[in-house]
Amino acid sequence: MDITILGIESSCDDTSAAVIRNNVLLSNVIASQAVHVKYGGVIPELASRAHQQNIIPVVDTALRDAGVSTDEIDAIAFTRGPGLLGSLLVGVSFAKGLAIAGNIPMVEVNHLQGHILSHFLDLPDRQLPHPEFPFLCLLVSGGHTQIVRVDSPLEMRIVGTTIDDAAGEAFDKCAKVMGLPYPGGPVIDKLAREGDPAAFRFAKPRVDGFDFSFSGLKTSFLYTLRDAVAEDPDFIDKHRADLCASLQRTIVDMLLEKLIRASKEFGIKDIAIAGGVSANSGLRDEIVEAGRRRGWRTFLPEFRFTTDNAAMIAMAGYYRYRHGDFAALDVSPVARLEELA
Ligand code: KG4
Ligand code: ZN
Repeated sequence: MDITILGIESSCDDTSAAVIRNNVLLSNVIASQAVHVKYGGVIPELASRAHQQNIIPVVDTALRDAGVSTDEIDAIAFTRGPGLLGSLLVGVSFAKGLAIAGNIPMVEVNHLQGHILSHFLDLPDRQLPHPEFPFLCLLVSGGHTQIVRVDSPLEMRIVGTTIDDAAGEAFDKCAKVMGLPYPGGPVIDKLAREGDPAAFRFAKPRVDGFDFSFSGLKTSFLYTLRDAVAEDPDFIDKHRADLCASLQRTIVDMLLEKLIRASKEFGIKDIAIAGGVSANSGLRDEIVEAGRRRGWRTFLPEFRFTTDNAAMIAMAGYYRYRHGDFAALDVSPVARLEELA
């Protein structure tokens, strides 16, 4: 029997709704919030208000694009966390309202598991490549950097994580130091294409096991710039592309080093990447190249599924629905990953 899921995502600064039937995407609407650009980062209070404005039109458009009415929806999947509490509250409250009005069951989704399970979506006219279990997923976003061992859609284990900043945060913070707009990741990616990745060297910390640390890199980047600008005020303007290329190469190297070690340790050669930073062209190129040398099957998400979207939330919700994991009406959002079951 076909299962139709409405997904709702509001964990950070994108309001998104999507409809899937089984694992096939019928619609995926994303309203990005431009309001944060002038502040150089996401302002939680403004994000909540923008979600409040966007949520009804976004869900309405997603249902219309899919050609599905609310009485055809088998379950509403919503992001319970991790994320900004005020932002999550909007999505969770909306899901409850619709669930009560339409007598529709709800399923809660862990945002990070959503990113990973986006690899199982298909398009109406095209099947996408899906990894086989068990696989390893390098999950790289603005808030998290993890290596996850995925044994099934409902069984995942974090084998490595960042002990301080996330990879996306490293991109965004270094971009800010160079006076680039928020979010800095995509801007650095673009500028890096014109630069020499060997032009500058930044400190790479040693961290045990499969864990990561990016805060030292940010400090090393900052000091390099501070000393150089003291001698030549135009230093950043003159070397922007080289700085971006060198920084990107360093972050990608740090990610790959741990991923390669994890693949060896677990003997797993199906390797996926997910999350906002998985859009990075340097990371995508390097992981394909590393995989070619090591006999991996590498899985890169379509660009539209890299940053926050509700399609991935619907996909993760589909598996929980099939497993009978329903959310109660008194469910509340949680900001931190550790608070999620
Ligand atoms: O997954 P995501 O949309 O939101 C979170 O759950 O955090 O990830 C956002 C992060 C931001 O740090 C952004 O700078 C980064 O993803 N990002 C990129 C690229 N596109 C987005 N970083 C590097 N290169 C890109 N092309
Ligand atoms: Zn995300």
